[in-house]
Amino acid sequence: MTVDVRLEEPGDRADALEVERLAFGSDEEPSIVGAVRDEDGSFAMVAVEDERIVGHVQFSRAWIGETSVVALGPIAVLPDRQGLGIGSALVRAGCAETGARGERAVILLGSPAFYSRFGFRPALERGLRNPFAGFGEGDLVIAEEDFMLRELSDEPAPLAGQVAPGLRPASRLKLGRARPRLGATRTWLSW
Ligand SMILES: CC(C)(COP(=O)(O)OP(=O)(O)OC[C@H]1O[C@@H](n2cnc3c(N)ncnc32)[C@H](O)[C@@H]1OP(=O)(O)O)[C@@H](O)C(=O)NCCC(=O)NCCS
Repeated sequence: MTVDVRLEEPGDRADALEVERLAFGSDEEPSIVGAVRDEDGSFAMVAVEDERIVGHVQFSRAWIGETSVVALGPIAVLPDRQGLGIGSALVRAGCAETGARGERAVILLGSPAFYSRFGFRPALERGLRNPFAGFGEGDLVIAEEDFMLRELSDEPAPLAGQVAPGLRPASRLKLGRARPRLGATRTWLSW
């Protein structure tokens, strides 16, 4: 198996959405990707096997207080290609790309069991509370430790204040706009 992980190109976009839809079994994640992919600061990585897109991960702008960071998610690998290291390759390549862009940190909502292997730590260790803790239902209730952070620079970034997705810090948004793009409970792993 040879899988190439690279930046998403315009011609990949439809297939990438389909990977998200098939992996999650839902239209929620494709719609999240559609909402953020054209924003400033957004980029995505794809995994390509035999000229077929088999994996996709979206990155977009977010803020912790006045510090801009990058949010990872959603991430998806085609169901019949999962468990082969493709998701891990997407996370590693995406974090490398994020660092190369001069960004200071990557944040995400996701399982520590998966993301801690890539150097993500609970954001609570930097004093950051999970603003979405308790959202969701059943097995998919967001836990405090699901808000994770990986710093990309040796110099710690000033990370304090409200966490907000989007193009502006929460302090410059009207109340109500600095909300997570959470739709159905299934989207909790997606920023
Ligand atoms: C999550 C996903 C992107 C991982 O991609 P992948 O190519 O299957 O992952 P890899 O082969 O690189 O790594 C597999 C490891 O991830 C773990 N893993 C996969 N999904 C996981 C999840 N939702 N929570 C915790 N761990 C998970 C596996 O148990 C396995 O762990 P191990 O190496 O200790 O055995 C993929 O399984 C997927 O698309 N899942 C459906 C969509 C989804 O849930 N996305 C968000 C997940 S945070």
